[in-house]
Amino acid sequence: MTEKDFSSVSYTTLKDEGEVAYSSPSNIALVKYWGKRENQIPANPSISFTLAACATKTKVHYKKRENNNGKFSFDFLFEGEEKEGFKPKIITFLKRIEVYLPFLKDYHFVINTSNTFPHSSGIASSASGMSALALCFMEMERSFVENMTAEFFNRKVSFLSRLGSGSACRSIEGPLVQWGESKVIEGSSNLFGIKYPYDVHPIFNNYHDTILLVDKGEKQVSSTVGHELMHGHPYAVNRFAQADINLDKLKTVFSNGNLEDFISIVESEALTLHAMMMTSSPYFILMKPNTLTIINSIWKFREHSKTHICFTLDAGANVHVLYPEGEKDVVFPFIKEKLVPFCQNGQYICDRIGLGAKKL
Ligand code: PMV
Repeated sequence: MTEKDFSSVSYTTLKDEGEVAYSSPSNIALVKYWGKRENQIPANPSISFTLAACATKTKVHYKKRENNNGKFSFDFLFEGEEKEGFKPKIITFLKRIEVYLPFLKDYHFVINTSNTFPHSSGIASSASGMSALALCFMEMERSFVENMTAEFFNRKVSFLSRLGSGSACRSIEGPLVQWGESKVIEGSSNLFGIKYPYDVHPIFNNYHDTILLVDKGEKQVSSTVGHELMHGHPYAVNRFAQADINLDKLKTVFSNGNLEDFISIVESEALTLHAMMMTSSPYFILMKPNTLTIINSIWKFREHSKTHICFTLDAGANVHVLYPEGEKDVVFPFIKEKLVPFCQNGQYICDRIGLGAKKL
């Protein structure tokens, strides 16, 4: 598929008015996307667990405008309140996707959105937020055409989400989504995420992700800037090649269920992501002292409990603690007693692997 396939949809009817709503989840990458080319084309392939609990709910009411003045027209409400501050991001997104959804300027939108996770928890809301909005616009497009296949819908919505935030393209389906061209994943694409196409060992069913909110403040360096700093980064070439290799290794792990190998790939990916930040120019650190305390504590506990608890990180200080369903009775009490005290205000989120976005 090429970009052209997404801009050549012909409409049979354009409805005057209507409402669409979606809930779209966040996701946590196991092989990280860090570094991109123009138009959010990733520098390396990535793969993520789709989450179940952390999600954005978005409702879009649309009404045909009398005359289109060449500008986008919308109101934006976050948790019931008008938020002017969020508008520039939405306008940038609308500008990027307009060529693929040419009806956007013909409507006035009222966009109502809320997150299931605490506001400013440091949990990336761009993946769930951008994908939820893209889903609403795609649902409009679906109602303007005769027959749209589920495959086309999912691919185009992932393609559009990617233009809002790269990792958002991995939030549409679940439980595992892969994005970025790779020789080892059939059907993989730089343009959109695909549902992982091979069998996955049952040990990964219901896999847990307890998210420890170590620092809820604004990140000092946005991921946009972080991606940018991979241009000319001294380790970039090796890092991008390593991601390819790790994806191949994970493919084996997903088939044989070897959790020792899973742990070493996933933890190494998390630390490599942060190593890239610490070795870019300018360099920066997003981990906090409590991030390291938690990591060390996980390692110690893993050794003596013989469980398969492990961690991953996104571009921030929070720690995602991953473990299989069969070990939750041993691992969760440890998390509560020994790790939660290192969270800001004792806050954490119990999440697990999920199946993707839902129409509301
Ligand atoms: O989607 P962005 O541009 O916010 O980038 C996300 C990057 C990481 O979360 C650090 C890794 C990933 O693959 O999700």
